[in-house]
Amino acid sequence: MTNIISILNHKGGTGKTTTSINLAKALNMLGQRLLLIDLDPQANLSQSLGIEDESETISEVFERKLQQLPVKKISDSFHLVPASLDLSAVEPGMYSNIDSYFVLKSMLDRLKDDYDFVLIDCPPSLGIFTQNALIASTGVIITVQAQFLALKGLDTVYNLITSVREKLNNKIVVAGLLLTQTNHTRISKDISNKLRETFKEKVFATTIRQNVSLAEASAYRKDIFAYNPESFGATDYMNLAKEILV
Ligand SMILES: Nc1ncnc2c1ncn2[C@@H]1O[C@H](COP(=O)(O)OP(=O)(O)OP(=O)(O)O)[C@@H](O)[C@H]1O
Ligand SMILES: [Mg+2]
Repeated sequence: MTNIISILNHKGGTGKTTTSINLAKALNMLGQRLLLIDLDPQANLSQSLGIEDESETISEVFERKLQQLPVKKISDSFHLVPASLDLSAVEPGMYSNIDSYFVLKSMLDRLKDDYDFVLIDCPPSLGIFTQNALIASTGVIITVQAQFLALKGLDTVYNLITSVREKLNNKIVVAGLLLTQTNHTRISKDISNKLRETFKEKVFATTIRQNVSLAEASAYRKDIFAYNPESFGATDYMNLAKEILV
């Protein structure tokens, strides 16, 4: 069965896009066929992979101008559905139509068998794009930045996932909570401990350390393995991929 995983947190800057790209690449390096979907109107994921100004993006899918997902081949087994900045203009018109919530699911139902993993980079909101992602997903990774107030709002994310599971998609599970941008400060350790106390084995054993190479890589439009394969960032995302595959 194809794993369809939403990378989620409605809080901004928790490492969703960084995780989407680098986990996808690590899984692909381990032999998995990958589809990455950019669902964020900021289009950071597409930009970080150097895919910009595409004429066909996820916007045209939600506008019903395309009948299938516009898939760009980064390599033979690593594909991307890009977003563009005009995605934000599509959102208001979608709420009034119940079918709008199922667009991504119905599109993925047709091509998911071509992939081992589909990773969906969600926007920092729990709006209709995120709801499309959850309805289509078999799992969710919640990225938690090891910082003050990181745990606030996690109950909101959990409640949304529970409500989607009860009403719309009984396949969805929380695959795990991922600690990101950890460092040696006391607050970082406190947050990590508190998260493990609260969510126990749901927290991935692998944590993503703060690592400037990860920030630089996206600025230079590369994944971490192309930019700096010796970095902590590369090590951590490879370990996460291995943990997910066991
Ligand atoms: N482990 C890390 N170490 C250092 N910098 C990081 C790390 N992870 C992410 N960053 C940087 O932090 C910023 C936010 O990360 P990212 O864009 O992945 O978060 P996001 O959750 O996708 O944000 P948004 O909610 O805006 O979509 C980026 O500049 C990114 O390069
Ligand atoms: Mg992002």
